[in-house]
Amino acid sequence: MKKFVCFVLCALLTVFSCAALADVATLTSVKDSGELVIASSPDFPPFESLQGDGSVAGIEIDIMEAVAEKLGVKLTIEQVNFDSILLGVMNGSYDMGVSGFSVTEERKKNVLFTDPYCLAAQAIVVVEGNAIASKADLDGKLISVQSGTTAELFCLQNGYSIDAYTTNVDAELAVMNGTVDAWVIDDLTAAEMVAANNAGNGKKLVILPDAMTTEPYAFAFAKGSDDLVEAINEIVNAMVADGTVKALFDKYGAPYTSPASAN
Ligand code: ARG
Repeated sequence: MKKFVCFVLCALLTVFSCAALADVATLTSVKDSGELVIASSPDFPPFESLQGDGSVAGIEIDIMEAVAEKLGVKLTIEQVNFDSILLGVMNGSYDMGVSGFSVTEERKKNVLFTDPYCLAAQAIVVVEGNAIASKADLDGKLISVQSGTTAELFCLQNGYSIDAYTTNVDAELAVMNGTVDAWVIDDLTAAEMVAANNAGNGKKLVILPDAMTTEPYAFAFAKGSDDLVEAINEIVNAMVADGTVKALFDKYGAPYTSPASAN
């Protein structure tokens, strides 16, 4: 009887794990379906941001348009809250995560990444005239971050109190209206969002000079998507090597830091 129960359990386990694997994107599944479905949180200029017509545009979207063309499939962009993307990728709801993902050891336990295509850092943003002048002044202050990001991780690791928001727009609003003392966010996005804010008539924001981390950006995939990662890696690496990626940063007016400069 025991043996029989064991057999049934093993059989069930095999069926379930095969079903789970079947959901994960592969090069063949993408080519067969004729589309590459990416999940993106479009609140992260210049990498991905929502346009007036509801479409998503930015450096990573341009990279993925080129990738899809090379693979001979159409690009489908699903707009997903940042903190839900990796789970959706892992359970096969999307083929990959394209959302300014920093490669971290923790994330690598759950997903696969391409090679990094650029480097970024966390930055501190405050309202102009605020007493916070550097990282040293953050102790005991309340900081807004986007939920599930490395900004959140950085703040928690440093023992700061945080308010986590689903979107960067709300994290920015929190510092603007004084709900929090500072906002921690990736540097290039900080530069874009602060410039957009400061072009208006309201309160001005400033980015403090401390660059607090070094974070390689890459694209995320479910474990099991190895051949898809390999194919896309090859395309993106070629775009880094021939200067296409740098040209895209130029197009969006953002400074480019090559991943090679980390070595
Ligand atoms: N680089 C950071 C991270 O990996 C933030 C990414 C936020 N992306 C976005 N599309 N809102 O956690």
